[in-house]
Amino acid sequence: TYVVAEPCINCKYTDCVTVCPVDAFREGPNFLTIHPDDCIDCDACVPECPVEAIFPDDEVPEKWEHYIELNERLAELWDDKVINEQKDPLPDADEWAEKEKTVDMIEG
Ligand code: F3S
Repeated sequence: TYVVAEPCINCKYTDCVTVCPVDAFREGPNFLTIHPDDCIDCDACVPECPVEAIFPDDEVPEKWEHYIELNERLAELWDDKVINEQKDPLPDADEWAEKEKTVDMIEG
């Protein structure tokens, strides 16, 4: 499966969702996740993300490995929040794209 990692937090550009052939993305307030039961490992979303937040689960940078389990957990939590159409990024996305973020910034 593919995994959304830290760079997505507070950005949510949503370019990724438009190319997903199986509607695997789920939306939270300031982060997206990929549902591992839906993802077919097609790789289409990876080049779409302007902040390079998406990785195959066996290539997630070590510092972000906890996002693998987190995507699964949040995808269950947000299972009914399928997103497959692009929307405006979060208001300060371009500023956040340049900043360090932490996992505890993810809003439930
Ligand atoms: Fe997030 Fe990148 Fe998609 S910022 S919403 S993973 S395009």
